[in-house]
Amino acid sequence: MKVTVVGAGRVGLATALVFDHIGHDVACIDTDESLIGLLRRREPPFCEPGLAPLLKNCDVQFANEMTEGYANSDVVMVAVGTPPLPDGQADLAAVRAVVQATVALLRPGSQVTLVIKSTVPPGTTDNVQKLVEEQLADHDCRAAVAASPEFLRGGAAIVDTLYPDRIVIGAHDEGAKQRLQELYRPIVNRAFLDVPDIRPANERQSVPMVITTPVNAELVKYASNTFLVTKLSFVNELAGLAERVGGDIKEVVKGVGLDPRIGPHYMEAGIGWGGPCLGKDASALLRVGESHNYGMPMLRSAIEINRRQRRAVVEKLEQALGSLQDVTIGILGLAYKAGTDDITDSPGIEVASMLIAAGARVRGYDPGVATKAAQHNPSLRVCSTIEELIEGCDALFLISNAQQFQELPVAELGRLMRRRVLVDAKNLLDQRSVEAAGFTYLGLGRSRRSTAYATRSEFAARHSG
Ligand SMILES: NC(=O)c1ccc[n+]([C@@H]2O[C@H](COP(=O)([O-])OP(=O)(O)OC[C@H]3O[C@@H](n4cnc5c(N)ncnc54)[C@H](O)[C@@H]3O)[C@@H](O)[C@H]2O)c1
Repeated sequence: MKVTVVGAGRVGLATALVFDHIGHDVACIDTDESLIGLLRRREPPFCEPGLAPLLKNCDVQFANEMTEGYANSDVVMVAVGTPPLPDGQADLAAVRAVVQATVALLRPGSQVTLVIKSTVPPGTTDNVQKLVEEQLADHDCRAAVAASPEFLRGGAAIVDTLYPDRIVIGAHDEGAKQRLQELYRPIVNRAFLDVPDIRPANERQSVPMVITTPVNAELVKYASNTFLVTKLSFVNELAGLAERVGGDIKEVVKGVGLDPRIGPHYMEAGIGWGGPCLGKDASALLRVGESHNYGMPMLRSAIEINRRQRRAVVEKLEQALGSLQDVTIGILGLAYKAGTDDITDSPGIEVASMLIAAGARVRGYDPGVATKAAQHNPSLRVCSTIEELIEGCDALFLISNAQQFQELPVAELGRLMRRRVLVDAKNLLDQRSVEAAGFTYLGLGRSRRSTAYATRSEFAARHSG
């Protein structure tokens, strides 16, 4: 099948490379000339496992402009950004521009299927279909518009595109539905060659497909992301209570997550959610509700709880240190999550800014995003080693669960610090070992009165005498 993917960000590039890998004839277009330059030289523009080998061996044609040849493909897939406008609404300008430019180049008799892969508010695909029909009113060609939202996770873009947990297609046109089923068939049947270092997360032989209307497909995408933020914010709200009543949220969610109706995923209390999608999609859905005069109090609270959580960790540290004026604080983890090189809506970066605004000297360490972080806030001193970060610090903020932070030699590092306070904003470390190294340990949702002991003998030892 001849496929043109427009947009070569995480979503567009992963889609183009995977469609090429499963046997389609693929072009990928992006207006960013330097990005296309990198891709033509087969240099990965961002860090994603599996991206480099796919890019190196692909036959994808990378281009800066939509041409008649690319527009008249079987499928044109729109994967451009839909960033938030100042009021939180999704900005659809790039989506509309791509559709308009493509339709203007259609030849008589052409029957392209235009697929919106970008995350767009419910109703967008149907509105775009109307615009396309107006544009094609006097032309002898057809363009059916369909929605096929993307669910990949940053840091797992290739594995999630090759081995998705579901494929959702929203279309009215029967031809478009059939064409999209054909497009995805090798993925659905898992009929393709393995990619080095990429393994499926499950042993399923086929991928479930949901074929529905465009508005439902669009809602599936927003509902998935907003369910995740609600789940995380719920756990964080509960963590605050656990802390106040003498509980330990880690033990609590272990028990709660064993209920198969709830499950163990997205149940970790911590500094809260961030990244390029969750916050933007939550705000966009809230705006959709408002535009229909429909309040969404649960979603609004989930967003507010997330904001409060970021402030709460800073307040916790301020209480422990007495004041944030003229103290030195080291932040471990600046990307929005481990394994990505993305700092969009990163909790680590926002905490750094809050601490700087309160008068602290702040250093950060995260090798994957050092340059981006330094550019983002010139008052943040970005260090190239953990030792450089820690030397003379009054407190440490652990914000990432990257493997190297899970194995921090706290006792050794503590000796380099001026004062030993550690905020474990991921509840990653063992509280007792950190305290044994002379630190004041501040976790989230874990009261010092917690009665969680590892073994019976440990309990007996603590309570003997
Ligand atoms: N990043 C994720 O993890 C993720 C996951 C699921 C869904 N999504 C959604 O997918 C969409 C794309 O996300 P992304 O992270 O790849 O975005 P991105 O911003 O990283 O990439 C978008 C690309 O589109 C290009 N572009 C913009 N206007 C263009 C035009 N008129 N013609 C050609 N190219 C143009 C930009 O130069 C950019 O390279 C968004 O709607 C996003 O919400 C993202």
